[in-house]
Amino acid sequence: AAAPPTYRPGLEGVPATQSAVCDIEGQRGLLTYRGYPIEQLASHSSFLETAYLLIWGELPTIFQLREFEQEVQMHRRLSFRIRDMMKCFPATGHPMDALQASAASLGLFYSRRALYDPQYIVDAVVRLIAKIPTMVAAFQLIRKGQDPIQPRDDLAYSANFLYMLTEREPDPLAARIFDACLILHAEHSLNASTFSARVTASTLTDPYAVVASAVGTLAGPLHGGANEDVLDMLDQIGSIDQVEPWLERAIAQKQKIMGFGHREYRVKDPRAVILQGLAEELFQRFGHDAMYDVALKLEEVAGRRLGPKGIYPNVDFYSGLVYRKLGIPRDLFTPIFAIARTAGWLAHWKEQLGANRIYRPSQIYTGPAERGWLPLESRP
Ligand code: SDX
Repeated sequence: AAAPPTYRPGLEGVPATQSAVCDIEGQRGLLTYRGYPIEQLASHSSFLETAYLLIWGELPTIFQLREFEQEVQMHRRLSFRIRDMMKCFPATGHPMDALQASAASLGLFYSRRALYDPQYIVDAVVRLIAKIPTMVAAFQLIRKGQDPIQPRDDLAYSANFLYMLTEREPDPLAARIFDACLILHAEHSLNASTFSARVTASTLTDPYAVVASAVGTLAGPLHGGANEDVLDMLDQIGSIDQVEPWLERAIAQKQKIMGFGHREYRVKDPRAVILQGLAEELFQRFGHDAMYDVALKLEEVAGRRLGPKGIYPNVDFYSGLVYRKLGIPRDLFTPIFAIARTAGWLAHWKEQLGANRIYRPSQIYTGPAERGWLPLESRP
């Protein structure tokens, strides 16, 4: 008989599904979406084109892309019911909790038609890709005590999001760089939130509940939010000459360096390499950020100390500096991660529908052996 499978904490190294969406070669720092290297997509594609590729498996023809862009544009608006519901959220509430509630509420509006109806799948994909950015921007304006502003049909996906968020039409360079950030965050094989999406999808619940489940998972500080912590860390270090003493103290206290390390990568995350280039483009155009110099020094010094353990910068190390330069509030960094990763979650939802097998892994029981009932009066 085959040896019983061994338990691996965090399922490390355990294949929990088969998937054709994304491949990561951690030793070599290679990341491909449906076979296309992330470097090519970040340079040549748009987020909507990349979302189409992830979800339907092939790059769209010009006709398919234009149709998808128009469908998304037509579904960006939120029903007044959702906007009014969002006005009831506490202004001090965490944006990821607001996003999870709002995304789940979409399920109330779109009756659960036959999940395998191809049109239902297209409608759900379009609505979630289209409405999640509007929800994030609406939350920002509402917590400032303002009415959310409507999407502008003459602006492309990323430019429209930045417009709804900041109430100003963004510089084309800022919009392009933001769109590239969405491509870089769109998918990453079986990370915690995508695994959560697949488990939820496997029960055949609706796609809005699947995305809400994944949003809740991404909200955890070990998964989403590390880029906020990176900025706090850089601010705490303060200057280049403080990097080495700060790092020595952090290592001595066995502190995890935010934005470093990854379950898959044993070299620098290829997304961090691209984000560094985007940051430098922004700084050249809109002014330097001294914290970038601190980050470069930290990468150099930490590379010497942690590199031998295969610990290098991950996607979160430079993304916070990019978002801060784009004028995005820190606590919206993870909701923006969710905007992008909705494409990957939906790709895996659709693939899981095809797998059609509910997740129900086994466990190793470590509780007490069978024992007799103890009446209340005879308990010690
Ligand atoms: C994301 O899975 C994905 O793909 C996620 C993601 C995606 O796109 O979906 O890439 C997005 O979540 C990026 C990661 C963002 N989180 C952080 O930057 C937080 C800091 N990083 C660590 O918490 C950690 O590196 C993880 C959570 C990212 C990965 O953790 P692992 O693989 O479970 O590694 P581990 O905690 O078991 O650590 C192994 C060793 C330990 O040392 P020893 O106890 O064996 O001596 O490496 C050390 C750890 O202490 N280590 C670190 C470290 N990360 C791991 N030491 C210092 N600083 C770190 N950041």
